Amino acid sequence: MRKSNSLADYASKRFRLAGKAYLDSGDPFFAPIDVLREEALKSGQRFVSFANYDYLGLAAHPRVKAAALAALQKQGIGALASRLVGGERSLHHNLEVGLAKFLGVEAALALVSGYLTNVTTISHILGTQDVLFIDELSHNSIVSGSKAAAGETIVFQHNNLDHLDYLLREKRANFRNALIVAEGLYSMDGDIADLPRLLELKEKRQAWLLLDEAHSIGVLGKNGRGLWEHSGADPQRVDLIIGTLSKTLGSCGGFVAGKAEVVRWLRYTLPGFVYSVGLSPVIAAAAETALQLMQEESWRMERLRRNAALFMNFAHDAGLDTGPAIGRGVVPILFSDSYQTLAASSYLMDHGFYVPPIIQIGVPKDQPRLRFFISALHSEQEIRGVTELLATRHIERAVPAARSLSAAT
Ligand SMILES: Cc1ncc(COP(=O)(O)O)c(C=O)c1O
Repeated sequence: MRKSNSLADYASKRFRLAGKAYLDSGDPFFAPIDVLREEALKSGQRFVSFANYDYLGLAAHPRVKAAALAALQKQGIGALASRLVGGERSLHHNLEVGLAKFLGVEAALALVSGYLTNVTTISHILGTQDVLFIDELSHNSIVSGSKAAAGETIVFQHNNLDHLDYLLREKRANFRNALIVAEGLYSMDGDIADLPRLLELKEKRQAWLLLDEAHSIGVLGKNGRGLWEHSGADPQRVDLIIGTLSKTLGSCGGFVAGKAEVVRWLRYTLPGFVYSVGLSPVIAAAAETALQLMQEESWRMERLRRNAALFMNFAHDAGLDTGPAIGRGVVPILFSDSYQTLAASSYLMDHGFYVPPIIQIGVPKDQPRLRFFISALHSEQEIRGVTELLATRHIERAVPAARSLSAAT
């Protein structure tokens, strides 16, 4: 008799293989943060999140909320069609002009998701005779873009530009066009690519460079313009900059930016833009206001830099391993095994700090970690408190607390 082949059985097997057993002693994911925050407030306890990438603390800024509310009242929620055929609002135009100006490039195009922006742009640009070079620790949206692309994908070792150079030298000539993709600030390790060398390489080997600045806008560079500003590079030499509205800009959506001619082509042909609804006017208004605010309130970037430096100092004083992080908006604390990571996260939650564990999903299995997103809004006391709790002696005590987390989720 044939064994049952229901989708439910298949799903359960796949889930088991994906690490479901880690949830058995308490599920630290999908924490109901609004409820936890309210409860903490009522009982006079703290609830501090290091889990959200609101780097400059703009997401709940009164002006951002007011702009969203005004757009909601005037224009409603949805864009109600693809902009190509349904028409667009001045809010879309203003956001894109503002983004391009801020980034020092000619034009930008906003889409409903940052993830989608990578998938659709990478797969759209490359044809069957083309090649894509991606970093081995690329964000999943880049990996998905590579799977959807018709050409071949070649993976280089993380941030190893000697390896990339070798691969380009060996393989580039077999293809028509070549696209290299790198990230401004890697979201799991908090490290950066050597942009000047990347630019040199891509020009020498006649390739194009797509830089995903999702985590670096608002975080890197004196004015928060991203890796190119941090590295003193000319943004015009980067062929495409991709970014998201969901991090520093506090809302949701993505954008692709570059030369006017390229962006004009994408406006009429990029599948994830042409065949998808336009960005909600509410979100366009919120993101544009956040973009203005980050330029007006530059103290936020200084505060973020100070907080991240404090975090690194306290973490190192406590003997914690921050891996290759350069000490900006994202800093991991590495653990040797997943259960210890879960226990540490649970222990922090018991003490009012929300720092979810990153195990198996998004990082190599043997490199579990707690990932901290630092914000300009964190206080020195909070940063000191969380790193002190994580000092070794506390982690050992934390192990039994792993079970209690299920109560909180
Ligand atoms: C490097 C990178 N690119 C793209 C994305 C996708 O952006 P979004 O979450 O806004 O869809 C993320 C999300 O975290 C990311 O880290």
